[in-house]
Amino acid sequence: MTTLSLTINGQKHGPMEVRDDLSMNDFLREMLGMTGTKFGCGAAQCLSCAIIVDEPDGTSYTSPTCIAPAVNFDGKSIRTVEGHARDGELSALQRAFIDHFAFQCGYCTAGFLNEGQVLLERLARKPVARDALEQTIADALDGHLCRCTGYIKYHEAVRDVILADSQRYLIATK
Ligand code: FES
Ligand code: FES
Repeated sequence: MTTLSLTINGQKHGPMEVRDDLSMNDFLREMLGMTGTKFGCGAAQCLSCAIIVDEPDGTSYTSPTCIAPAVNFDGKSIRTVEGHARDGELSALQRAFIDHFAFQCGYCTAGFLNEGQVLLERLARKPVARDALEQTIADALDGHLCRCTGYIKYHEAVRDVILADSQRYLIATK
């Protein structure tokens, strides 16, 4: 057993004792009842289980949870799909996913949402040129598998959010 403390969606959890071999996915879903994080392949291949990890320097990245031990996240600050809406208001990305009917069964959606959010935050820190945008989105979402093949809809939804706030996410052109 190992003691685990971490911050999830801005809320502190722990210290609590967890088994050394408990996966982060089981920790979230079984111990905390946060079932928004899905379990797909269980082999770090589909990224349906990906969450956001926030670094102290303000950067963020996604991490699969299916094969990662929960204790690997000790002391970290993470975000899950449950943390995107604020005061009952969906995020711009959540609204865009709905507007585009981006998801079908929804199993992969939390992973795509987290990845898209990380991309938005990266572009807010370091905008890209408009002509690099399509490849930038494709590269960011690459690796997330959707068994319902909703790839284009997800891509379009992310693009819409970026173009709707282009001064923030894209390099200004004359
Ligand atoms: S369930 Fe974790 S990568 Fe597929
Ligand atoms: S919406 Fe079904 S797996 Fe992506």
